[in-house]
Amino acid sequence: MRVAQYPLDWLEERSGLVGGIRYFLFRKVPGDTSWWHTLGSATLTAFLVQLGTGVILAMYYKPNPENAYESVQHITNDVTLGWLVRGMHRWGASVFIILLFFHMARVFLFGAYKYPRELNWIVGVLLVPTALLEGFSGYLLPYDQTAYWATVVGININGTAPFLGPFLASFLSSGSEIGGDTLSRFYSLHMLLIPGALIGLIGLHLYLIVRLGVSSPPWSSEAAGRERDEPAAQPGSGLVQPSPRGVAGRPD
Ligand code: HEM
Repeated sequence: MRVAQYPLDWLEERSGLVGGIRYFLFRKVPGDTSWWHTLGSATLTAFLVQLGTGVILAMYYKPNPENAYESVQHITNDVTLGWLVRGMHRWGASVFIILLFFHMARVFLFGAYKYPRELNWIVGVLLVPTALLEGFSGYLLPYDQTAYWATVVGININGTAPFLGPFLASFLSSGSEIGGDTLSRFYSLHMLLIPGALIGLIGLHLYLIVRLGVSSPPWSSEAAGRERDEPAAQPGSGLVQPSPRGVAGRPD
């Protein structure tokens, strides 16, 4: 136990990181939280799966009209477990969006957007179109007939929006028609800009959750936001041991 704990203590003494992670992971939540409260974490898990599988796909994908389709076929048919990684990424995109909406519905129906969590709701409102844009930009990448024509339809729908529509459509198509430049642009949006924005927004979302705490259900008899009454963790108590070293009952 001591050998296993030494590196954690070393790190904690020099960075405070272990205490920070423990504070993040071992927070008090109201006693009457339920499965409904896990939808946010489920959405986060789906997003992390998308990040992991996306990084692997990017190692084999070729973002130009001549090779895009073949590279996706190569991933599916030749690369070891490529079919699985691609399948997880493709289906995972829908899972992520569905969970996102379920989580948003939970927050809405529980009234969890009310004071002091309005800002977190606003961050969520920014997350929704960003996540949808991530799905839209990914849909073109296999560059088959479905991808091509779905993107034509999507760009045309955007083009009908008042005032900004034509600018948005010309920004997305990157020229008068959908071609190599569109594909590069969508790839850049899909694997750099939009995931970066999502990571930033999710980071802010999680910061606010840790700062404000999770709300109780509307029917709760418990007061939410009560002070933490346990003593602060001491250095040397490791990552998962809540009690300081030397305290009776703590297994060393
Ligand atoms: C990538 C998308 C998202 C992720 C990863 C995410 C993650 C989370 C997590 C882990 C929680 C804490 C546990 C829970 O209440 O489920 C939470 C709470 C919350 N989320 Fe999200 N969320 C996302 C999108 C959204 C959206 C779209 C909205 C609303 C428009 C939203 C509004 C909120 C609010 C207000 C809370 C506080 C709820 C409470 O304290 O009971 N979130 N989110």
